[in-house]
Amino acid sequence: MVDWCNSSRVSSMMVGSGRVLVLCAAVAVCLVQHLQPATAERKPCIAKDFQHGGFVCVCNATYCDTMEPNTKLPKGQAAMYVSTPSGKRFEKIVLNFTAKSNDSGDYDVWTVMKNITYQKIKGFGGAFTDAATMNILSLSEGAQKNLISAYFSPTEGIEYTLGRVPMGGCDFSTREYTYDDTPDDLELTKFALAEEDMKYKIPVIKSAMQMSERKINLFGSPWTAPAWMKTNNNDTGKGTLKGKAGDPYHKAWANYFVKFLDEYKKQGVDFWGLTAQNEPTDGEITHFPFQSMGWTAESQRDWISSDLGPALDKAGYGNISLMILDDSRLWLPGWATSVLNNGTMAAKYVDGIAVHWYLDQFVPANVLSFTHDDLPDYFVLSTEACQGFFPWEEKVLLGNWNRAVEYSTDIHQNLKHWVVGWTDWNLALNMTGGPNWANNEVDAAIIVDSKKDEFYKQPMYYIMGHFSKFLPEGSVRVEVKGPYEDDEDRWMMAFSLPDGSMVAIMYGEFYDVHLHDPDVGFINFRQFEEGITTVQWWP
Ligand SMILES: *[C@@H]1O[C@H](CO)[C@@H](O)[C@H](O)[C@H]1NC(C)=O
Ligand SMILES: *[C@@H]1O[C@H](CO)[C@@H](O)[C@H](O)[C@H]1NC(C)=O
Ligand SMILES: *[C@@H]1O[C@H](CO)[C@@H](O)[C@H](O)[C@H]1NC(C)=O
Ligand SMILES: *[C@@H]1O[C@H](CO)[C@@H](O)[C@H](O)[C@H]1NC(C)=O
Ligand SMILES: *[C@@H]1O[C@H](CO)[C@@H](O)[C@H](O)[C@H]1NC(C)=O
Ligand SMILES: *[C@@H]1O[C@H](CO)[C@@H](O)[C@H](O)[C@H]1NC(C)=O
Ligand SMILES: *[C@@H]1O[C@H](CO)[C@@H](O)[C@H](O)[C@H]1NC(C)=O
Ligand SMILES: *[C@@H]1O[C@H](CO)[C@@H](O)[C@H](O)[C@H]1NC(C)=O
Repeated sequence: MVDWCNSSRVSSMMVGSGRVLVLCAAVAVCLVQHLQPATAERKPCIAKDFQHGGFVCVCNATYCDTMEPNTKLPKGQAAMYVSTPSGKRFEKIVLNFTAKSNDSGDYDVWTVMKNITYQKIKGFGGAFTDAATMNILSLSEGAQKNLISAYFSPTEGIEYTLGRVPMGGCDFSTREYTYDDTPDDLELTKFALAEEDMKYKIPVIKSAMQMSERKINLFGSPWTAPAWMKTNNNDTGKGTLKGKAGDPYHKAWANYFVKFLDEYKKQGVDFWGLTAQNEPTDGEITHFPFQSMGWTAESQRDWISSDLGPALDKAGYGNISLMILDDSRLWLPGWATSVLNNGTMAAKYVDGIAVHWYLDQFVPANVLSFTHDDLPDYFVLSTEACQGFFPWEEKVLLGNWNRAVEYSTDIHQNLKHWVVGWTDWNLALNMTGGPNWANNEVDAAIIVDSKKDEFYKQPMYYIMGHFSKFLPEGSVRVEVKGPYEDDEDRWMMAFSLPDGSMVAIMYGEFYDVHLHDPDVGFINFRQFEEGITTVQWWP
């Protein structure tokens, strides 16, 4: 085998029928090592314990752990990937189906019922904020590539398919700005993307798009209109758009969305969706500390029907997926029914309802099902979540497993109540959970230490992967009949994928599990410790 070695990275490749791992040293001396086919492409986690209740996996410019490829197996076999607090990260084993449960009493049988179907999955992902993309680009080129691959690559990553893009500045920026800070520019002649878009967000988005095999569905969200369009003449605090629906400021703000889409399109970046406003209720709070703009359900409805909807249609963006709310589910189903019920004009422009997780521990998830039942033609998508957001909490907790469990609990609750996908907040933050100009630092699934040119994959990253990697767009949730009431400590969900395969995702300490697919048989396994498990089979 002859190959030129790239001195700055470890790469693996297929050679003939076997696999060869090529390790390239800095002086371009190549060590060629033949490994077992089953493990050849897996690079294990380099664990580091920061004493916060778990460990991270350390990546740098030349190394990042990967998972064993999930190649299609013959009927009768299943691939099982497990992550646990004690040490496993996407550990794969192959299991065989048997004709019967190996437990004579048929205890603990979980039956997958493909004929009872629920929602179609849109995807999983995170946000390309100023902070996230600045952190990513603060690394050396090799480490940048490894980080973006960790999220988007089919061979090295967890294949995110959703990307949220703030339209202008938010708290996760290093300054306050909008795309048109020239007072009274109602024609938006001075509208321009910012340095943050050109230098950070767009390059990282493009690199993600290049690496990804799946389509990345991007959606934009604004935090505030320019101060001159607002009643309080400020990006922050309590304030709304001046005037009312149909007035010049409302029209200008709708045209701002069109300009945003046009300018990104010129850079080669197309959007799948938009939310009408990030957290519209923030802007109703006096002294709200970072960019916000207030709406009620009624003012959002009227602005969409008289301004935003028609402006998008006229500019050729009529097929973009427009989402309302983009705030806590505390406001459901009332917000959604006010905007969409009874044949409002807004109803024909809107496609979905976006929810944030921040009050989920206080508001039962069944409000999501009530919303779906009231408005079955509109999807519900989870568009923001992060850990460490309460003021009294530690911001970054490197390696903490419990924070990851809370992610999986919330994703499970959401998916059980018709939600079509789940979007993490910043893709990457620095060691103190920033940068954030408003000192609103939080945690993230990947933390960057630019001084060491390293990044840390938190347990939250792996939890996200147990869903994102295995559930491409178009997967459909199906019923699972389990031996217990589904609860936060022990649950299983199953999905039917567009390629005909089946996926089951489960969490908890199960002891003996007998997963039953009536078309194939039983998979019997024993799980002694707490953990998250994803199983895929091709019936
Ligand atoms: C990158 O990580 C690998 C694996 O831990 C290690 O062998 C290598 O020395 C690291 N490179 C640098 C520059 O720290
Ligand atoms: C599954 O079946 C294959 C082929 O029959 C066999 O080689 C393999 O050892 C079995 N695996 C397990 C975990 O029993
Ligand atoms: C779905 O399939 C299962 C098992 O194959 C069967 O027992 C059940 O009656 C079916 N339910 C419906 C609603 O068709
Ligand atoms: C906007 O509000 C902040 C916080 O209340 C205040 O410090 C700042 O001076 C205000 N800016 C303008 C332009 O009024
Ligand atoms: C909307 O339609 C245009 C033109 O037909 C197409 O290029 C674009 O991909 C569509 N966008 C979405 C989000 O479907
Ligand atoms: C829809 O109309 C019905 C009947 O007029 C009314 O009772 C209900 O409150 C309306 N719902 C909304 C959300 O406006
Ligand atoms: C992270 O960003 C904040 C700004 O929010 C900055 O003050 C801090 O120094 C940065 N931390 C590191 C470790 O770079
Ligand atoms: C069933 O099979 C699993 C996996 O081989 C094994 O761990 C478990 O002990 C078996 N259970 C019984 C009751 O034999």
